[in-house]
Amino acid sequence: MPTDRTEGTETLMPSSSAAPLSTNRSRLGYKVRYALRHPQRVVPYLRRSARDGWLRFRHRGSHVAYYRAVMASDAARSPEAAVGGGPSHARWLAIGQMQYDYLLGHGLKPQDRVLEIGCGNLRAGWRFIEYLEPGHYFGIDISPEILIEAKKTLVRYDLQQKVPHLTPVADLTLDFLPDGYFTVVHAHSVFSHSPLEVIDECLSHVGRVLAPDGFFDFTFDRTEGTEHQVLGEDFYYRPRTLIQLAEKHGLSARFMDDWERLPHGQSKLRVTHPAPLTSCRDGAAAE
Ligand SMILES: C[S@@+](CC[C@H](N)C(=O)[O-])C[C@H]1O[C@@H](n2cnc3c(N)ncnc32)[C@H](O)[C@@H]1O
Repeated sequence: MPTDRTEGTETLMPSSSAAPLSTNRSRLGYKVRYALRHPQRVVPYLRRSARDGWLRFRHRGSHVAYYRAVMASDAARSPEAAVGGGPSHARWLAIGQMQYDYLLGHGLKPQDRVLEIGCGNLRAGWRFIEYLEPGHYFGIDISPEILIEAKKTLVRYDLQQKVPHLTPVADLTLDFLPDGYFTVVHAHSVFSHSPLEVIDECLSHVGRVLAPDGFFDFTFDRTEGTEHQVLGEDFYYRPRTLIQLAEKHGLSARFMDDWERLPHGQSKLRVTHPAPLTSCRDGAAAE
């Protein structure tokens, strides 16, 4: 059944209990089976479906405007639920910790300059801000409402001295950011809510702001069956589609197997500048 923000794809359950990767959640048969298994979710789903239908109509032609309206509506009810899953503080903390631990395990250093795309209310961001040197964290989001919540998170964790940058954006052209600046770009549970043209826009610009040896990690909802979307909110892609999209923009992308071992329902890709080719002249000299 489509998203109701109580199940979502952001689980804290073992991956063995997740739906098979070939599942097409947009199919009527799937929805009916899901409704029979979770009758208590039918009414919230219908309510969400009606609200989303109205918002899609109001903001037709612009996914970003539509999703911004979804976030405004969700954040007004519960900012913690708006960034994923149910309104549980423990879950908010756990998923933020998972993101932080993963990047630390991949060598994040206080000197890194981190751009977080779709930073939400700083579920992971506050941990990055606390760890990084002052001024090294940049968070962007399409939702002014969630950025106001992000500011509250900063105050709650007493992080004013870290002077993080938080900026609302209307697109992912990243045009206001400097060339080759960010050593780490991070987008968690953002492309799982993005149509391909939004991801394409991001991938066409992120290479410019990425430091030569930097990397861009993003999660996505993976399918190994038919690519599909649910309510214009949850988008399911084959890894190959996204890897080819990155390659189209002169970047390399690889699937992060170690992320799969974590109890999170999404998958992760890492995008980098391609490794420099050994030039013909080098090869000739070695012969
Ligand atoms: C599910 S929340 C995750 C937030 C945060 N990354 C986290 O892990 O808590 C998705 C966030 O991405 C933002 N978002 C969605 N589409 C975006 C886009 N095209 N550009 C920037 N932010 C976007 C939403 O407003 C929301 O704050």
